[in-house]
Amino acid sequence: MSETVRTTVCGFGHVGRAFVRLVRHKRADVERRHGISLAVGAVVDLGGAAFREDTDLPLEGLARLSASGRPIESMPDFGRPGARALDVIRDVPADVLVEVTPTNLVDGEPGRSHMIAALDRGIDVVTANKGPLVVSPGELEAHAGGSGARLRISAATAAALPTLDVARLCAAGARILSIEGILNGTTNYILSRMDREGRSYEEALREAQDQGIAEADPSLDVDGLDTRSKLVLIASRLFERTLTLEDVDTVGITGITRAGIDDARRRDRVIKLIGSARLRGDELLLRVAPEALERSHPLAAVDFSEKGISFDTDTMGRITVTGGKSSPTGAAAALLKDIIHTRASALLQNA
Ligand code: HSE
Repeated sequence: MSETVRTTVCGFGHVGRAFVRLVRHKRADVERRHGISLAVGAVVDLGGAAFREDTDLPLEGLARLSASGRPIESMPDFGRPGARALDVIRDVPADVLVEVTPTNLVDGEPGRSHMIAALDRGIDVVTANKGPLVVSPGELEAHAGGSGARLRISAATAAALPTLDVARLCAAGARILSIEGILNGTTNYILSRMDREGRSYEEALREAQDQGIAEADPSLDVDGLDTRSKLVLIASRLFERTLTLEDVDTVGITGITRAGIDDARRRDRVIKLIGSARLRGDELLLRVAPEALERSHPLAAVDFSEKGISFDTDTMGRITVTGGKSSPTGAAAALLKDIIHTRASALLQNA
């Protein structure tokens, strides 16, 4: 017997569109392997929504609309021009809210209100949206605690690159002493293109935007703010501290020149944007900055839109995970993983 998990998808940009396509591709496999029957009950974006009271959204039609780039409210038979996200979250029954509106580092809105509305109704939330999580640390968790709903944030913490899951599950019982990460695919893509293929900064940024991996506002990537947000989310959980964005010294990659890249190369080094958290006594030092890594460093060979994270631990030595390209599909896959993890606890029992 499979359990139906009905999602409401909030945000129909690159990641929201990739998620509904992924549900269509993976639905049968997820049902067979995990006993979860995925459904999309509603999708809502700025201009309106698509849903119907009597049935789920047809995945074929939804995937076609997603690929066409047309807005969600134009979906034949299901489109609701002008419908608002908070009303959809309140009125359309769902088990999980997939919140993928753009990150807003000022007040976390509108994602913050969407997630609170869902959590307060006992609806689980999986999200790629870092804004509300870093702007109001602990707030969403408190709402989840109040209703017993679950909040999972893999897609906001480097998505296809497993970060929190590795540290919590695979390094359970070990103490994390330090973290170093290449946590942003856009900046790694730009630096790799400049280093490996002599591209200009502007050309490489444009390519990253064309691939849909740059943030809607790419200054969040190149100024190091996306890396900073991910670092705060990961470090606060692994070091069990309340951390804010202001705790992180942050420098982006806009000051990196061709001369700097060539100079690093001559010294047999490679420049990467590194987010790091290091314990010094009781103090936790948090930093985002370009670093010229020796070629032997475990993150030195992480190129283009791939990412990487390296944990130094007290009992397991250094653990490094690399890969997990930034891409809309990778982000959607992290959302799907979180949905499966909230349901398929057996997955973690007998492995
Ligand atoms: N813009 C991000 C990146 C993807 O380039 O990795 C979302 O976090």
